[in-house]
Order: sequence, then structure tokens, then C-alpha cells
Amino acid sequence: MEWGVRFHQHLLMHDGRAHNFEQAIVYHGGEAARSRNKFLSLPADDRQALIEFLRTL
Ligand code: HEM
Repeated sequence: MEWGVRFHQHLLMHDGRAHNFEQAIVYHGGEAARSRNKFLSLPADDRQALIEFLRTL
């Protein structure tokens, strides 16, 4: 799968309001709220590991 998000890591979401992956995740709502909350409850090193994974996509 190719998200291509690594090519635009500084203006994320449809209106460019998220300046990094962590912000983009935190701005999720609706159906994605559960994923956002799970992300926020992870230990810092696991959150960092997910961000590093996103940078590879
Ligand atoms: C661990 C789970 C998730 C991660 C890491 C993640 C990550 C991201 C990122 C980085 C973006 C910005 C993409 C861009 O600007 O091109 C994004 C946007 C979006 N995500 Fe997720 N996401 C997750 C879960 C979900 C879920 C469960 C849903 C819905 C059921 C969802 C719906 C959306 C939608 C609709 C957008 C576009 C929002 C906008 O542009 O304003 N995401 N997501």
C-alpha cells in the first residue's frame, strides 16, 4: 500500500491544519475517535514507534 504521507509531513489533513503526524492523529474524530484515544493512551515510546512507521509510508 502507498499512502505517500512521507511526501507531505508538514501540511496534513484536507485543510493542512496538522503540522505533523501526531497532530493529525490527535485531530481525528468521529469513527476514528477510538483509534485516536488508543494512540493517546500508548506509552511515549510506542507512540514514537507508530510515528516512525508512518514516516515510512
Ligand atoms: C492508528 C490509526 C490511524 C492513523 C495512524 C491515522 C493517520 C492519519 C493521518 C496521518 C492522516 C492525515 C493524512 C493526510 O493528510 O494525507 C489521516 C487522515 C484521516 N483519517 Fe486517519 N488514521 C488512523 C485511523 C483512522 C480511522 C480509524 C479513521 C476512520 C474510521 C480515519 C479517518 C481519517 C480521515 C477521514 C482522514 C482525513 C481527514 C482530513 O483530511 O481532515 N483514520 N489519518
